[in-house]
Amino acid sequence: MRKPVIAGNWKMYKTVGESVATALALKPLVANANHCEVVIAPVFTALKSVADRLDGSNIRVSAQNCAAEQKEGAFTGEVAASMVRDAGCSHVIVGHSERRQYYFDTDEIVSRKTQAGLAAGLTVIVCVGETLEQRDQGSAESVARNQLAGGLSGLTASDLDRIIVAYEPVWAIGTGRTATPEQAQEMHAFIRRVFAERHSASAANAIRVLYGGSVKPDNIAGLMKQPDIDGALVGGASLKAESFAEIVNYK
Ligand code: PGA
Repeated sequence: MRKPVIAGNWKMYKTVGESVATALALKPLVANANHCEVVIAPVFTALKSVADRLDGSNIRVSAQNCAAEQKEGAFTGEVAASMVRDAGCSHVIVGHSERRQYYFDTDEIVSRKTQAGLAAGLTVIVCVGETLEQRDQGSAESVARNQLAGGLSGLTASDLDRIIVAYEPVWAIGTGRTATPEQAQEMHAFIRRVFAERHSASAANAIRVLYGGSVKPDNIAGLMKQPDIDGALVGGASLKAESFAEIVNYK
């Protein structure tokens, strides 16, 4: 049985005070959500404060990115995965399409960040997904396959226990245009097949694949009914405790 994961990606929003306030507002609203794992990803500066305040709760804290370098060193502006862990996080998101698009995170960089996250003891949420142009050209599957091959190269079967894939079609992110449950299901089933080919049937069966892209309280239930959708990575609708709690409590 794959336990669903509902993760909120707060992107570059909220001060430390606002992040703590939202996290504290969320806490009682999702306290009974035993059917899924709940994760929130505030900005770097708020991670420690939020993690401290959520200690002992059922909400896990994630960074939105980490350095590709594993050891501390002269890398101005970077934050190591071990430092993310030290701040109280259990997860890190890598390869988000905004990182790929605006900060040139290539598959090779995504792979190094994935390795860094795993080495630091974090669970790594690896994002993949095609642009509208790629979908229209009929290459959605090959894009996902290449991103998985590049971003997850060199992983062993035991590494996969701490890997979560997020399928996020770029055309659905922040656009209000969600993939239909059927479109998402098709890609999730494909991603699972890629794991079966690259690793094993049992690895494919165990890996959790989240959907991301304009997930809202009113579309989460339809997505979660699909057999290969194991949760969601939520952007805009995760910024308010109430709407994110509605998504978490989709059942
Ligand atoms: P969105 O963002 O829910 O605002 O579309 C999703 C994401 O970028 O992870």
